[in-house]
Parts: sequence; C-alpha cells; structure tokens
Amino acid sequence: MTETTTHPTRRTVLKGAAAAAVMTAVGELRMFDAEAAAAPAHKGVFGYGIASGDPTANAVVIWTRATPPAKKGQPVATPGSGHGGPLQVTWQVARDPKFKHIVKHGKVKATAAHDHTVKVDVKGLQPYTRYWYRFSAAGQTSAVGQTQTAPDVADETHALRFALVTCSNYTGGYFTAYRAIAQRNDLDFVLHVGDYIYEYGNGADRYGPKSLKGKRDAQPATEAIDLKGYRLRHAIHKADPDQQAAHKIAPWITIFDDHEVANNSWASGAENHQKDEGAYRKRRQAAYQAYMEWMPFRMPDQDEVPHRGTRFFKRFTYGSLADLTIIETRQNRSKQVDAPDGSTHDGGFIPFGTDPATDAALADPSRHLPEPEQMTWIKDGISQPATWHLIGNQTMLAPIRYPGSVGGFTGVGLNSDQWDGYQADQSELISHIAAQPAEAGDVVVLTGDIHSSWAVDLPAVAAGTTPGADYTPVGVEFVTPSVTSDGFYEGVADRTGYGPGAVALTNTLVVTSVKTQSPWVKYFDGVGHGYALVDVTPDRVQADFFLTPEPTAARPDPRTDPKAMPTYQASWQTVAGSRRISAADGPVGARSDSPA
Ligand SMILES: [Fe+2]
Repeated sequence: MTETTTHPTRRTVLKGAAAAAVMTAVGELRMFDAEAAAAPAHKGVFGYGIASGDPTANAVVIWTRATPPAKKGQPVATPGSGHGGPLQVTWQVARDPKFKHIVKHGKVKATAAHDHTVKVDVKGLQPYTRYWYRFSAAGQTSAVGQTQTAPDVADETHALRFALVTCSNYTGGYFTAYRAIAQRNDLDFVLHVGDYIYEYGNGADRYGPKSLKGKRDAQPATEAIDLKGYRLRHAIHKADPDQQAAHKIAPWITIFDDHEVANNSWASGAENHQKDEGAYRKRRQAAYQAYMEWMPFRMPDQDEVPHRGTRFFKRFTYGSLADLTIIETRQNRSKQVDAPDGSTHDGGFIPFGTDPATDAALADPSRHLPEPEQMTWIKDGISQPATWHLIGNQTMLAPIRYPGSVGGFTGVGLNSDQWDGYQADQSELISHIAAQPAEAGDVVVLTGDIHSSWAVDLPAVAAGTTPGADYTPVGVEFVTPSVTSDGFYEGVADRTGYGPGAVALTNTLVVTSVKTQSPWVKYFDGVGHGYALVDVTPDRVQADFFLTPEPTAARPDPRTDPKAMPTYQASWQTVAGSRRISAADGPVGARSDSPA
C-alpha cells in the first residue's frame, strides 16, 4: 500500500538504509541477528511450525521447515544461511489427530537448496474431509496440523466459510488477528491476499509503532533484498506463535502482493527499489523463490493457459455454489501513474480530474494491471455458470475518490496503485461483470492492501470518469483490514500528532468525504485491524468484520498490546441476484454442515 503521509521523508531515509544494506551485503556481513534467528531452529527440527494450503477436492499441500540438528563445531542451519546437510523427513496424513488411521505417508528430503523447507502435494484424498498431518525427522516429530479438502463435490452444495486476511507487518504489531482465527473451528481455509511479509528493516526505514522496537524486530535487520534476506524474513513469520497457530488449524490459500518483493512493485521496478540494491528482476526472482519455499502454495500448471512470466493465478471450485479465482497483479503490471508535481514515485494518492495529461495516462488502454492473457482467463471464469464467482484480489477494484487531503493536495484524488490507476482494465473487468446474464451468477471481489475495512457496490464505470449517485451496481467488493500494517487512522495520527483524538478526525476527514464522493461505499472503517470472515450460501455472501479495539488514551495503539484481540464489529452481505451490498442482521451462525 502507498503510505499516506511520510513519502518524501521515507524516500530520503530509505536511500541511506538501502546503501547500508548493500555495503553490508557486499562484505557478507549483513546484520543478521543470528542468535534470535536461530532460536526456533534451536527449539528443534520443526521450530518453524507446519502449514497446509491450496486445498482442492482431492489434494492439499503440507509444509514444514526441517532444520538439521547442528553437529558439534558446525553452525546452526538458520534460514537463509545455506548451512546444514540433507535431512530425511517422513510425513503422515491421517483421519484422526492421534494418527490411528493413517491414509497417506511418504518420505521427502530437506536440503539447503530449498532452505530446508519441505512441501508435499498430498493427492488421492476424499472431498470435504478433515485430515491431520505431521512430520518427523532426526528422532523428532512436528506439531500436528489440522487441514481439510475443499467442499467441492459435483451437484452437492456444502457450507463454505473462510477468514480473509492481508498486510501482516511483523514490526507493525502482534498478530492477534491470527490468534483469533486460530481460535475458530468453522473455517474451510484462510485466504491471504498479499503482504504476508514486508521488506523493510529496523533502521530509519522501520515500518510500524516505535514502541515495538526491541520487542518485535525484523530479521534481517536491514531491508530484505536478496534470497538470504527474504528467506529469513519469511522465517520470522513462521516462528511467530500466533502465525503458527493460524496455520495449524486450517489450510491457507495465499497470493503475494507488492511487499513480498518491495513496496508498489510493477513489472520492472518498485517504489522501494533503488538502483544501488541491484537489478530489480534478480531481486524479484529471489523474493519469489523464498515465497515458494516458505508458503504452502501449489504452483499452477504453466501450460494450461496463456500467461506472461510465471503463472501464479489459479482457480478453485466449490461444486455449483462458487468458484474462487486467485489473481496476481504485480508481476506484469505497467508502471504506476505519478502526481504531476512529482510528489509520488511509482504510485500513490494523486489528483484526478484536474490535470488532463495525468487523467489521460490513468485511462490509457495500453497500460495494464493483470497482463491481457490473465484478464481473458479472469473474464472466462466469470462467464461460467456458478451461483457465486469469488475473486481473491490485491488492490481495490471499485473506483474510489478520496479527499485530496489524504495525499496532501486540494481537490479530489485517487490511489494510482489500485485498479483506479489502470482505468481501462478496471472498466473492462467491471463492464464484463455487468454484461453477465443472471444464470452466470454474481461476482464478489475479496480484496486487501489498503489497510482498512470496506463493503462497496461495484459501480459501472467508464475509464476517465467517476460514476454519479445514480450509478448502476454490478457486483460487490469486500475489503479486509490489515492484520497490523498502518491504516488511515495511523496516517492521520502521524500527520496531526493527535493520538487517539485522530479517531474522530479519521472518521470525519477521510471516511465521510470518501463516502460522499463515492456513494457506492456502504461501509468503510479506517481505524481497526483484524480480519473478515466470509460466509457463502446459495442465498447470500456475508462478510463479518472483526477489528481491534478503538484506540484510547490508555491504549493509544492496540497493535502494541499483545492481548488486544479483534472482536466482532459489523456485518454486510450481498443477496443472490441483487448485485449490491445490503445490511446483514448480525454475525453468521453455525455452519449448515461440516466436513467428514
Ligand atoms: Fe500492505
């Protein structure tokens, strides 16, 4: 996400930090806190926990990191270190948590080539069925993970419920959203739509509340720019107890956004990538490699559909109830449009409707967010019959007009790093949704990145224009808040220095103005952090928002309180056939059925 306030300062400080990172990298003396990084490794072979992911009707990916026990006089095989020999790992999948009824098992080798991470795509499982899995190696056994296959059986309709999360900045706060998710027992999966890690270091570029310095520090201590750095950055997340707990209870479906590489990334660069950090493509390749090693992500078939670069986008199905299209919008996107006064760099809050050249660039049909091949694939999916087409998306699809004050200018603005910055693509996709007959079902876009909670109608929109109050709704978009990353509240608090008093200012300055200028916005909370619960039935899709408590004088930043759990705040829904948002009566009840 684009920072709302400290752009010039941030750029200036980053240059110094980046230079320092390169200097230390060159001398192989990067400031790894080796002792802290090694702690989970010292906890045993499986100190980084376990995870499962990408469940289909018959398969699920299981994951762990198997640290080889250190031999006397030899260094510990910490993540990114390249140390440690190969380790034979045994895995088991059972129908019960005590492993009395083992249905699948096998052996796999953990090696330094993949940072001793292990991923097994367990196939031949039964649909909509719960399983337990574990690993063992070197005489040690991992924690037991619970997972399940997808509620995807032809001609059957089952419950479908998942947690939607985004933007989990380790230095930004405690992962209480993950802890809350781990306490649920009604999820088919957790959907993370991007910014699972952030690339920033602990120096002048540190991102998040200052009071957590020394309590929740990034590793490596400097910006992640190479394979070693990204591997270790992923590892500190997998060492976090709340993160481990949330992976332990359900499979995850994940896709990266910008920060898994660098802020506001596009095809050939990023806002937070400087020349002195090396070639961007090389950096991105390292980031992708670490992501694939450390996440329970199944690489989709590269030959199945046309794409550019590496295909990451994929689709899951849930009988005739729904499909879930996971899109990827960073690898091939055109460079962002910047403010005419040069106040942004690779995207940000920029004026709209005042500078003809800027407006023309925003609407330019040669600029793309997903590559055209992926756009065709997304549109094809929406045209298939299903009650619901769910789309796991990174940046907001709906057009949103912000008060210029958010970007420090007068008039109306938009965020050029969102679909609003690629208006030809935005209009093409929304128009395609609008053109679908009733039997093609309805579209629900599920989004992250913007560190705030939203429920909005998707209004029909032509590139270069803003819909009016008489807009035509064609579908809906739910946006989940960040787990910990700075949102609009923190932006206003930083700008004004008002602390908890900024809550009211956020609500009046930002929320009211956005809702006035974008009347299709039905719900917008710029203060809370947490997650959204998404529940899908043939009749409606509902999102329940679980947010951290409002900041107060006694607790000005709940993210720094390890006990500040997100709690239920609001519910919004879309009724089948309505293609718009409506209020829901209250939080969702029990599931209609559960996996075998
Ligand atoms: Fe983010």
